[in-house]
Amino acid sequence: MRWIPIAAIALAGCVAAPAIIPDTYYVREGMVHAINPPTEAIWNLQVEAMDDYGNFDPALMTQARWDALDAASAQLLSASQDMAAAGSYASHDPAGNLGDAPEGTDLAAIEARLKANPQSYNAFAVALANHAQQLSAAVDARDPEWITRMANDLQPVCKACHDVFWYPEEYR
Ligand code: HEC
Repeated sequence: MRWIPIAAIALAGCVAAPAIIPDTYYVREGMVHAINPPTEAIWNLQVEAMDDYGNFDPALMTQARWDALDAASAQLLSASQDMAAAGSYASHDPAGNLGDAPEGTDLAAIEARLKANPQSYNAFAVALANHAQQLSAAVDARDPEWITRMANDLQPVCKACHDVFWYPEEYR
């Protein structure tokens, strides 16, 4: 019966080892693959379904557009909740293949800020998740005025974090 404890130790090793790494959120990959695509879809839909005053016009919302808005708002909600739930943050996946970051991006400086202020980063991530929750609720409610407000107020929530963690040099 000596094999039982050995097997148990091997299994425990398998379960415990990956728990540390998957909890790290790779910001650049998260932005490019998870956060940005549904946001662009929402902003594009807003342009397509806008009245003369820049408000969401339900008369311009076809079933296909509602389906797309449902999907994009749900996707943004789950993507931002994933980011908010992470235990630690890194600027990018060292094994990633996204190529060059946008001009002016200093990945090493971003990494240093993330390591110095993880709670602050997390607070911005929670703010985005809360905003995405409201946007999703507005879409579920089919409330054009609420959807307009949440879609218009989304960009400042992105910018608030970018100002601090991406391009703070501009504000010194
Ligand atoms: C909690 C902080 C935070 C929030 C909120 C946030 N971002 Fe970012 N974002 C970053 C950081 C940090 C970078 C630079 C990281 C990098 O590219 O390594 C970045 C980079 C990006 C990039 C460039 C990615 C690249 O390298 O090509 C895009 C696009 C982007 N964000 C879109 C968005 C949008 C859209 C939102 C809002 C819906 C948003 N972000 C909200 C932190 C945030």
